[in-house]
Amino acid sequence: MSTINTEHFWMPFTANRQFKTEPRLLKAAKGMYFTSQDDRQILDGTAGLWCVNAGHGHPRIVQAIQEQAATLDFAPTFQMAHPLAFDAASALVSIAPAGLNKVFFCNDGSEAVDTALKMALAYHRARGDSGRFRLIGRERAYHGVGFGGISVGGIAGNRKQFGPALSGVDHLKHPLNISLNAFSKGEPEHGAELALEFEQRLLATHDPLTVAALIVEPIQGSTGVIIPPKGYLKSLSEICKKYGILLIFDEVITGFGRLGSAFAADYFGIMPDLMVLAKGLTNAAVPMGAVLSRDEIYDTFMHAAPQDQIEFFHGYTYSAHPLACAAAIASIHVYREESLFDRAATMSKAFEIAAHRLRDCPNVKDIRNLGLVCGIELTPQVGKSTTRAYDIFHRCFWKKDLLIRTTGDIIALSPPLIISDDEIDTMFRKIAEAITEQSAE
Ligand SMILES: Cc1ncc(COP(=O)(O)O)c(C=O)c1O
Repeated sequence: MSTINTEHFWMPFTANRQFKTEPRLLKAAKGMYFTSQDDRQILDGTAGLWCVNAGHGHPRIVQAIQEQAATLDFAPTFQMAHPLAFDAASALVSIAPAGLNKVFFCNDGSEAVDTALKMALAYHRARGDSGRFRLIGRERAYHGVGFGGISVGGIAGNRKQFGPALSGVDHLKHPLNISLNAFSKGEPEHGAELALEFEQRLLATHDPLTVAALIVEPIQGSTGVIIPPKGYLKSLSEICKKYGILLIFDEVITGFGRLGSAFAADYFGIMPDLMVLAKGLTNAAVPMGAVLSRDEIYDTFMHAAPQDQIEFFHGYTYSAHPLACAAAIASIHVYREESLFDRAATMSKAFEIAAHRLRDCPNVKDIRNLGLVCGIELTPQVGKSTTRAYDIFHRCFWKKDLLIRTTGDIIALSPPLIISDDEIDTMFRKIAEAITEQSAE
């Protein structure tokens, strides 16, 4: 293995010093597999970071990016544009839930979250309702790392280093309840009533007329796969409608087939006002985020400003970057041509069966799954939270040639949608081995 100088790269969300003692390096990828620096084929149980839904190095996406780089490397989209920006927006709308017809591009999920929050605030103001300044998120929510995202997010660890962040934010409880719903397959039975605390506690405390938007991940992914109880999201949506509060779905993880439908909004049959996207939008080959908006929101902005004035004072140098647009168009084409969303729905049964076989492994206290997402929650080691799951992650990478993701003491799985039956069996068998070996030590 060639030696590399690890001194200069300050790694994100990583224990830098620990990592640099034994770097886990990936040097290539194709389909379901990474190639590690020491030439092992590593089965990707996480689609990179919930993002490579069509598998790695898809030739159609690679070609689109290569051709685009040679044709138009960059063009500004402030008071200028290039055709692919419009084509990418149209491609996205063609698979989006009916009614979400306008697309604002940015570069990742965090920017898309902050864009959606700003859009919600500015929308109410454009309607002459500028008293709506409050944003509501949920405990254990992850909405990226911008100041908006960490404010509506519900993870103390992501906030505590950075001062007070946004004011006027409050949080709903999260709906994970292992004592009632352990080992649920799909949507848990218990907990829909937790949605009611939005109306009974938060709106009663704050006055609904001050609330601009509620943002939720349909499935809370990053904090350990929290699946909404049956009826819960529908109740939230009804409360939002009743009080004129915008509902933002953060579909950065659930978008692009993860649940076996194009978006979680389709899966749950709920129409949000704004939808936050990233990751699978370009199959992660080029960074890109987007906010999908209802027509009425866009129209409100258009009517509120004179024809020759900017309607929304927001945007990024790389909004609708040509390479990202090319990758998005190609990815959406691949998803459609290869029926990958239907494939995810079909494979989700085998995935669920294989996941729940781990129920009797030592220290497994919950398994929860929906579509091609699964969380396996472990009992923490006494006095040492996260170490059990980290050991299993480490063991999977070095000894089992498998990439998994862990958060706290939870293993989170989200493989590319192209995973085969054999690969599903292999992935869960290796995890079971790693859990058992770890427990024996
Ligand atoms: C639900 C959700 N929102 C936002 C983000 C932030 O996306 P990014 O890391 O691209 O900024 C993530 C990232 O995992 C996410 O899971």
